[in-house]
Amino acid sequence: MTSKMASKEKRTVLVTGGCGFIGSNFVRLLLAERPHWSIINLDLLTYAGNPENLADVAENPQYRFVQGDIADPALVRKLLAEEVWAVVNFAAETHVDRSILDSGEFVRTNVLGTEKLLAAALAAKVPRFLQVSTDEVYGSLGERGAFSEEDVLAPSSPYAASKAAADLLALTFCKTFGVTALVTRSSNNYGPYQFPEKVIPLFITNALADQPLPLYGDGLNVRDWLYVEDNCRAILRVLEQAQAGSIYNVGGGHEMTNLALTELLLDALGKPRSLIRFVPDRLGHDRRYSLNCRRVFRELGWQPLVGFQGGLERTIHWYVENRSWWERVRSGSFRSYYRTQYGDRLAEGKGLETGSGKPAEAEPRQPEDRRADG
Ligand code: NAD
Ligand code: DAU
Repeated sequence: MTSKMASKEKRTVLVTGGCGFIGSNFVRLLLAERPHWSIINLDLLTYAGNPENLADVAENPQYRFVQGDIADPALVRKLLAEEVWAVVNFAAETHVDRSILDSGEFVRTNVLGTEKLLAAALAAKVPRFLQVSTDEVYGSLGERGAFSEEDVLAPSSPYAASKAAADLLALTFCKTFGVTALVTRSSNNYGPYQFPEKVIPLFITNALADQPLPLYGDGLNVRDWLYVEDNCRAILRVLEQAQAGSIYNVGGGHEMTNLALTELLLDALGKPRSLIRFVPDRLGHDRRYSLNCRRVFRELGWQPLVGFQGGLERTIHWYVENRSWWERVRSGSFRSYYRTQYGDRLAEGKGLETGSGKPAEAEPRQPEDRRADG
């Protein structure tokens, strides 16, 4: 069925984790592009979930918010009884650094929660289940190569391991029980409404508050950046068009070092580079991520529409215009997290002005190239 025909059909979609960063952008995209669909947003409202992210659509009759846990079978069963056509599972603990501090919640929500959601979808015979996975399941690359969907999963952090488990659970529910499960593995998203623990919003908001920017290790780890709306469009395409059991890499095609990214942000904000602090590295820090996205290009005709420069300008503009949003989010429990994560690191940190700009203790491991087909 073409997506044009599908867009006219009335369908109900259960979006989980819709009050987070990507989930809220996805809900907004669905309401705009599939106005006949009904959306139920099931979100536990952890520290990362914020109903304000969807305040502009809260009164839309096609949208309903339910506060609750994906790991609550009775609640999920009740929601799925409403003739749900698809589940899109964004709900997760998502921050690598927090998973290094304490991995328990990551296993509970990402692994056990996803398993419960899959079991409920199977019991309710939900026609489609999309698991939002991540490029971190593949582990780290050296300077060359890119991961394709057939590569071995070799996660480095407890976060990545919990996402790999969820991703494989979704695929096994397809193989074993016939659930039409679909998996997307995207690279680093950026854009409006991202919780300011992740590097781009953390560095923008620190810079706006004239606070130091804590850059891990030598600052030369590489990430591939994808504008959040582009990821949401890819997820919608996979949801409507993909075959059962398929996996799609979704990348932005814009790789850069963290140092280059930080300098770009400071320049764009008109803030001095002296705000950069090289701090002790993240444990198990993946050196580089890169995705081969030929499958989603060729089979689904998706490609990113937002260039990195334009996307970053929009993102910076959003954080400048929405200072009250991030000031509220950065208060309370965020402050104690920040002290735990950065207190000692910043005390040991060094600025750009000291020597080469590299802290003496930063000796990043150099993982071997795992693939060289990119
Ligand atoms: P986020 O941390 O901003 O939001 C997560 C949301 O899930 C929050 O609203 C939270 O309240 C909710 N949640 C957590 N536990 C829950 C539970 N047990 N039941 C119901 N809701 C729960 O995350 P994000 O950055 O928007 O990521 C969304 C998804 O995309 C995650 O699965 C993540 O692994 C994946 N992903 C993210 C990125 C990225 O760059 N941000 C890249 C690739 C994949
Ligand atoms: O690749 C997809 C993943 O991207 C998602 O699955 C995760 O949910 C998401 O959090 C993100 O993971 P990263 O670990 O890549 O994102 P983060 O923003 O935490 O870090 C990006 C890079 O910046 C990474 O190399 C570490 C570095 N960094 C991060 C922080 C928070 C710093 O140098 N200093 C920091 O303070």
